[in-house]
Amino acid sequence: MKTRILAVFISVTLSLLAAPAALNAQTQPSSDPEIRSRADALLQQMTVEEKAGQLNQESGMIIKGLAEQKPDDDIREGRVGSILWLSEVSEINRLQRIAVDQSRLHIPLLVGFDVIHGYRTIFPVPLAMASSWDPAVEEQAQRVAAEDARAAGIQWTFAPMLDIARDARWGRIVEGAGEDPYLGAAMARAQVRGFQGRSWGNTSILACAKHFAGYGAAEGGRDYDSSYIPQVLLRNVYLEPFHAAVKQGAATLMSAYMDLNDVPASGNRWLLHDVLRQEWGFQGFVVSDAIAVGNLVTHGFAHDREDAAYRAVSAGLNMDMASKTFIENLPKLVATGRITQSQLDDAVRPILEAKIRLGLFEHPYVDETRAEAVLTRQSSRDLERRLAGRSMVLLRNENHILPLSKSVKKIAVIGPLADSADEMEGGWTVEGLFGGESRGHPVSLVAGIRNKLGTGAQIEVVSGARLQRKYPSLLDQFNGTKSPPPATEAELNDSRDQAVAAASRADVVVAAMGEATNMSGEGASRASFTLPGDQQHTLEAIAATGKPIVLVLMSGRPLDMVWVSEHVPAILEAWYPGTEGGNAVADVLFGDVNPGGKLPVSWARVAGQEPIYYNHNLTHDPEDAPDFTSHYWDLSTKPLYPFGYGLSYSSFKFSNLRLSKNRFATGTGTEVSLDVTNTSQSAGDAVAQLYIHQRAGSASRPVRQLKGFRRVTLKPGEIQTLTFPLGLDELSFWSPQTKTWGAEPGMFDVWAGEDSTSSLHAVFELTAN
Ligand code: BGC
Repeated sequence: MKTRILAVFISVTLSLLAAPAALNAQTQPSSDPEIRSRADALLQQMTVEEKAGQLNQESGMIIKGLAEQKPDDDIREGRVGSILWLSEVSEINRLQRIAVDQSRLHIPLLVGFDVIHGYRTIFPVPLAMASSWDPAVEEQAQRVAAEDARAAGIQWTFAPMLDIARDARWGRIVEGAGEDPYLGAAMARAQVRGFQGRSWGNTSILACAKHFAGYGAAEGGRDYDSSYIPQVLLRNVYLEPFHAAVKQGAATLMSAYMDLNDVPASGNRWLLHDVLRQEWGFQGFVVSDAIAVGNLVTHGFAHDREDAAYRAVSAGLNMDMASKTFIENLPKLVATGRITQSQLDDAVRPILEAKIRLGLFEHPYVDETRAEAVLTRQSSRDLERRLAGRSMVLLRNENHILPLSKSVKKIAVIGPLADSADEMEGGWTVEGLFGGESRGHPVSLVAGIRNKLGTGAQIEVVSGARLQRKYPSLLDQFNGTKSPPPATEAELNDSRDQAVAAASRADVVVAAMGEATNMSGEGASRASFTLPGDQQHTLEAIAATGKPIVLVLMSGRPLDMVWVSEHVPAILEAWYPGTEGGNAVADVLFGDVNPGGKLPVSWARVAGQEPIYYNHNLTHDPEDAPDFTSHYWDLSTKPLYPFGYGLSYSSFKFSNLRLSKNRFATGTGTEVSLDVTNTSQSAGDAVAQLYIHQRAGSASRPVRQLKGFRRVTLKPGEIQTLTFPLGLDELSFWSPQTKTWGAEPGMFDVWAGEDSTSSLHAVFELTAN
């Protein structure tokens, strides 16, 4: 398993472009009759084994226990349709040549890779990008990622990850857009546009919406554990970003690992057929998560691998990632009639269509001379720095301690993440981490501060604490480097003393703390949100010096900031800000960038509050009522920071909420307007957020639901009027009583303002006609 996880991260390199048929990404991937007839013509020539081959995705690298030898022979014999986990451009070309020149039907391989938040230039992690509340940011980042990846030989990414996460114990929260279906859907559409382009061209890569579906609801936040999600919740919350991606034209989906309501997602016909194809009209293809088809046996669902293949194909799964279950069993299943020829053809057709549409038959190879120039574009790094600045969230700023003055004389940068370039980029930094000499060279926080202040300031750097990782870092795993042994008490005390001494000498302290990147992400759940290792201890010690402290938090999830939020005057959540991370953080710390990011998750006080999310239902006796309330005996049920929260160096006033109609019929709509004023002396970004609540209906509705947002830049004193539509799309929900989508007549509340607790309020009535 470890090997597999490592393999997942192992890098790729370069490859080519294809000159393809233009296709509007807004339409379903497969609706062009010419492409369909080319695919059908191929199908007619294919043997059953060749068809099964197209459904087989093999590892491009040798992995013990999974791929014991290179896939050359399998490719030559037409037994492989796609490869993944391959980074050498020359190797990609070599394998492609075998497919195109030596296989009987010359069908090119589709090369897939995890291009999650950048390829060479690593962008902020997805949770950070969602914190920008600016889908254009996501789109631009994924456009660059697509251009890089395509130039490096990748034609398909396993992204965007669209799993709603209401529980930050689940480490993969870092890979998605957080807890909200509306924000998640907006980010989903933006990413699909970014990856695939507005029309498929030679810089497009296929998007893969994953992990379909319900993976983020793993019990106890334990990655891979079962999800139990009633249909009403699935439809109103968990499926929404996926539906948005499908409507946006996402070419592929990836089925999730876990049991969904006792039926593994990769063998779940209700999900993969009834909802995805019948209801949503999806015409692309579905790949399993890695070895998930074989694991239908492990789940205790399929009897054996043959049964697993049967169940996965019957459910509507097209491609088997890395478990070889299809290639080994489908020919048998067709021979015995359990799987029909036409079922097999239906599974293969969309894969052939995608290859045709991408232009792979005409342009199968990578231009090896061109890749490096594309991957090292300075413009990508410039964009990364800008987007990282837009994705940071200022959680606290007492007495306007931030921004810091650039004429500060002595600054102490303290913490295990202060000078750790490798921790800046987050988990999916495959090419970035393992690109060897060619890697992206991430900028550490200290380097960023040095770049900003030049030689004018004295900068003292002290680690001051240990992260005490449970596992070695990825880079250490890759290089076979052993993790350092746990620090002794004496060593910890010594480094804490050094931190306190440095803080005492400084005019201002920047504490760089948080989680190592491998403490979130796949297989990295946490049962507590404390700062790992002895960081909290060190932070308290340096706070006791009385020096002004700014905490720059780097983490893949909200951490326990209860003490910090009372004792440390400024907290900037930088997440994992990417290749230019250190520069981007310094831009914010020293005021060249005014922070405007907002939380895409409710920030729990402690892990015991999870799952915690703003769009819950009312209880029969809410917390503010006098007795018998829904509450913890020992803690508030409220988050430390609410969904949508984030400060700025500017201040804003939200006012004058009004509706174009306060009473209107279902099927029509209203417009909600409000004024946003920059009441400060500096230009800055506000994010206006619109929430609704339906007071009564065929089902209880959440206390608030996000139904509109916009990030705007306002000059000092500037007022902007923002208008949001509210119509059928925003007011509809899936009712467990009627079992359909619809908007129900009744009274609604509407709030607009700075976050999910805003008090600017109005009411409207939706009438039957
Ligand atoms: C992960 C996926 C990833 C796949 C391929 C799996 O372990 O769950 O998110 O796309 O590996 O690397």
